[in-house]
Amino acid sequence: MESNRKRTSDWWRTSTVYQVYPKSFKDTTGRGTGDIRGLIEKLDYIKNLGIDIVWLQPVYVSPQNDNGYDVADYYNIDPAFGTMEDFDELVHQLKKRDMYLMIDIVVNHSSTEHRWFKEARSSRDNPYRDYYIWRDPAEDGGPPNNWQSKFGGSAWQYDEGTGQYFLTLFDKTQADLNWENEKVREEVVKLLTFWAEKGVDGFRLDVINLISKDQDFPDDDGTVPPGDGRRFYTDGPRVHEYVKELNEKVFTPFNLVTVGEMSSTTLEHCIRYSNPQEKEFSMTFNFHHLKVDYLNGQKWELKPYDFEELKSVLSEWQTGMQKGGGWNALFWNNHDQPHALTRFTDDGEYREESAKMLATTLHGLQGTPYVYQGEEIGMPDPKWNDISEYRDIETLNMYKILIENGKTPEEAAHIVSVRSRDNSRLPMLWDDSDQAGFTTGEPWIKIDERYLVINAKAQTEDPDSIYHHYRKLIELRKKLPILIHGQYIRLDDKHPHVYAYARVTSEEMLIVVSNFSREEALFNFPQEISARLHHARSTELLISNMEDNLVLSPSVRIQPFGSYMWLIQDDKE
Ligand code: GLC
Repeated sequence: MESNRKRTSDWWRTSTVYQVYPKSFKDTTGRGTGDIRGLIEKLDYIKNLGIDIVWLQPVYVSPQNDNGYDVADYYNIDPAFGTMEDFDELVHQLKKRDMYLMIDIVVNHSSTEHRWFKEARSSRDNPYRDYYIWRDPAEDGGPPNNWQSKFGGSAWQYDEGTGQYFLTLFDKTQADLNWENEKVREEVVKLLTFWAEKGVDGFRLDVINLISKDQDFPDDDGTVPPGDGRRFYTDGPRVHEYVKELNEKVFTPFNLVTVGEMSSTTLEHCIRYSNPQEKEFSMTFNFHHLKVDYLNGQKWELKPYDFEELKSVLSEWQTGMQKGGGWNALFWNNHDQPHALTRFTDDGEYREESAKMLATTLHGLQGTPYVYQGEEIGMPDPKWNDISEYRDIETLNMYKILIENGKTPEEAAHIVSVRSRDNSRLPMLWDDSDQAGFTTGEPWIKIDERYLVINAKAQTEDPDSIYHHYRKLIELRKKLPILIHGQYIRLDDKHPHVYAYARVTSEEMLIVVSNFSREEALFNFPQEISARLHHARSTELLISNMEDNLVLSPSVRIQPFGSYMWLIQDDKE
C-alpha cells in the first residue's frame, strides 16, 4: 500500500536520498563482498539518519567487470548479492519503515554476456543484431570513427565472426544498445514495469543522456574539447523523445521518483529533463561542479581546485534550474568520485569541521540531497601504497594509458591515487572490530586503516558527530519550506575563502556562510542583506559546526572550515 506521503505528486522534494554501493556496504556471508541482507541489517542505521529514499546500485546478474554496470540479465539478482527473496524482503522492510527504494537502471548498454548480445553477435541476420550498434570497418580496416571510450581507447570493438565493429562507450564488455530500434525501447519499458510491479518506488537511470546517437556517426575533428566524440551522442537528437516515452509508459503510471544521471550535459537540457511540465524525470545529476580540479577539462590531468569556479558553477545551476522550473539532485560524493572532503577541504586535522561544513553548504541548496554511504561519518579518500591495491577497471586502464603516453610510473600512480573511483569504493567502516565490521572474511578491496577512529558506531554514539550533523540537516529539510522553495541568491563577491548564499521568500530568509579554508575569514554581507537583517523580527542559528554561537551581523568572522545556517524572519509591518 502506498503511504500518504507518496500520493502527492512531488513527494520526493522534501526527501534526502542515501546511496548504497552494495558491494562495499555490509557482508553477511563472509565472502568479502557486501550483499542485500547486509543492507537490510543496516536499514535502522539509515532510517535513524532521517533518510526516506534508498538508492541501491545494480544487483542484477552481471560478470561484474564494471561492478554491476554491465548487466547480463535485467530480471534476476546476482548470487553475489543474494536472491530475489532477499530483494523482496528488502522492499518489505523498507515499506515497514515508511522508506522508499530507488533502483539503478543501466540501459545505455548491456553486458556482452547478455543473451541479446550473444544472439546479436552470432550472425548478421539474427533478429537481435539490431539491438546493438554495428558498423563496417573504415577503409583501412580500423574502427568506423575516432570516438573514444570513457574508460580509454577506441569506443569500437571488432567482432571477428561477423566482420563488423560494435559500439562500447564504456568498457569493451559494455555494448551500447540501439535505441533507434523500437524493440529495444519496448524491452526497456518491459523491464522497468517488472521492477515497478515488484514495488520499487523509483529509478536512477545510468548515463541516460547518452542513449541517442547521431546516426551519421561522424568523426570528431577535435575542435570542441575534449574531442572524444561525446558531442555526437550527449543529449542526442532523440533523447527527450525516448525519455518521454518511458515517463508516459512507466514513471507516471507508477508515480515513481526518477533521477537521470547526465554525463557532460547542459543546463538547458537538464531543465527539459526535470521540469514537471515536460514529463521526463523528477531530477538530474550533473557533474560540472566536480570538474573544477580537472586541468583543461581533462579528468586525468590534475590541478588544484578552483574555488571560484566551484561557487559559480553551483550558483549557475541553482539560479538556472530555479528559473527554468527544473530540479537538481544535490551531491558531493558518489561511487565514481573521490571524496569532496579530500578534494576541497582538509580531511586530516579539520576532518570533522570540513565534513560538517560541506554538508551544511550542500543541504542549504535547492534540490534533493544525496548522501553517499560513509559521507555521513566523514570517510576520506584512502592512502594508496601500490597499484595492486586498486580494483576499478577504469583506473587500471588509465594507469596503463598514462604510462603509454609518457608519464613515469610514479607520476601515473600519483594521478590515479587522486582520481581513481576506488577512492570512494572502500568498504563502509562500521565499527572498530576486525575489518571494520564489514566482513568476517577477506574484503574484496582494502579497508581504510583509520577505522579505529572513523567508524559508524563511534559516530552514532557521539551527539556532536558528523552523523548527527547530517541528521539535523535532513530534519531541517522536512521542516522548513524555505529550503524547498526559497529563491537562491549568491552573497559573496568572489571571496577567496567564503561561500555565502541566501534562500529568500517574501517573509523569510535563510543564510548559509561557509569558510572553505584553514584561515580565519572575515565576511561582509552585501548592503541589501544587511538592511534586511536590520529589520528582522528574529534571527535563529539553525545549525553550525562551531561552538561560538556566532551572532549574525553585517560583518562576521568565521573560523577555519566554520559554517553557519541562519533563519531570519522579517518584521511584518
Ligand atoms: C555511470 C556509473 C558508473 C559506470 C558507468 C557505465 O557513470 O555511475 O559507475 O561505470 O555509468 O555504466
